[in-house]
Amino acid sequence: MPVTNVYTTIAPVNIAIIKYWGKKDTKLHIPLNSSLSFTLSMNDLKSKTSVVASTEFEQSRLILNGVSEEFENNKRIQNVLQLIQQHATAQWYTEAKKNNTVDQYKLLIVSENNFPTAAGLASSASGYCCLVYALAQLYQVEKGTDLSTIMRLGSGSACRSLYGGFVAWEMGTDHASSNAVQVAPESHWSTIQILIAVASADKKAVSSTSGMQDSVNTSEKLKVRASEIVPKRLEQMRLAILNKDFATMADLAMKDSDNFHECCADTKPPIYYMNETSHLVVRIVNAYNKVKGTIQGGYTFDAGPNAVLFFENQDTMKEFLAILLHIIPRSDKQTDAEYFPKYNLFVTLDLKEQHKQLVQQVEKELNLESTEENKGKLRFILHTTVGSGPQVLDEKESLITNMDILQRK
Ligand code: DP6
Repeated sequence: MPVTNVYTTIAPVNIAIIKYWGKKDTKLHIPLNSSLSFTLSMNDLKSKTSVVASTEFEQSRLILNGVSEEFENNKRIQNVLQLIQQHATAQWYTEAKKNNTVDQYKLLIVSENNFPTAAGLASSASGYCCLVYALAQLYQVEKGTDLSTIMRLGSGSACRSLYGGFVAWEMGTDHASSNAVQVAPESHWSTIQILIAVASADKKAVSSTSGMQDSVNTSEKLKVRASEIVPKRLEQMRLAILNKDFATMADLAMKDSDNFHECCADTKPPIYYMNETSHLVVRIVNAYNKVKGTIQGGYTFDAGPNAVLFFENQDTMKEFLAILLHIIPRSDKQTDAEYFPKYNLFVTLDLKEQHKQLVQQVEKELNLESTEENKGKLRFILHTTVGSGPQVLDEKESLITNMDILQRK
């Protein structure tokens, strides 16, 4: 039976340190401003997608984390697929085109994330990046095709997941010029350490897509942000990364996160993505930096309450970890490893004992009487580093078995 090979890819999450918020063109996903992110290591967080096409399938299907999702009426997926097909060179496809049998081929797409979907961890970014990367293998898109522009049509932020390290999405003026470019590879600044403090793993109340258009339509602050603040800040950020100037990089990222959330609060009706725990984490980072006398830790918050915290190296990350584990203790119902899966890796010595003085100074700075009331305010904490772009995996790693294909789903 005419069936293609199965292709499997993995793709990373990226976290913007200069945020994208608002579209100039909602059809083409042309943003109001350029943005910049770091790519997270796929050792810790990733999407994985397998694709296959066959004339024996009755319909095209998309299965995301085990659940069947809309395919034919999913506009974003159809837009992505159309562009991929425009650049296709795969023999099975060109022959089917010649024979007018393209419509007989249906797709089976199976995709999984190894982290909670829609928890503000940019699952749509890694998801669409991975999907486009897998489809690009299946259809053998012609060399020189800028896949980031196709990923952008899936989800704006997805285009930045195409590269490892530090990546800018240049806003551009049309489809071809609104693309992702690598500012520096992961090897340029490999010491950077990241902690993700998950305040809630629930689905967010206002999606990024609708929230950002409400901001475009009603927030005066967003206009100033996009036209005046971000263009300057982005260039400063690019330089800070190239110079490995951590204090400037973290300072700019924190200002940008604050400014983005101010624009959300300035939207009518106001949008509040951060919660009480998010604000506590911000206070802890500020207190830590104050006690240290320089900026040694940074935070950024996407469209959700989870904090992405970053540090220049393992020493400062561990210092902060000692503070965070002390000030926001795990709930009594959790084990240490449930709260922080890399507990055994990083909390080998008594971290708190080692940094006792610092923890006390930060506690004093925060004016905390007790940490008891903070117990369980964070669901869990993840650790990761800056990592590489998407990869094609071996057939053995496929999410689609021969049985799936034979069963003609
Ligand atoms: C706050 O890329 O999810 O994470 O383009 O409508 O799919 P769409 O939006 P999306 O928005 C991400 C917004 C953000 C900031 C960022 O990643 O730059």
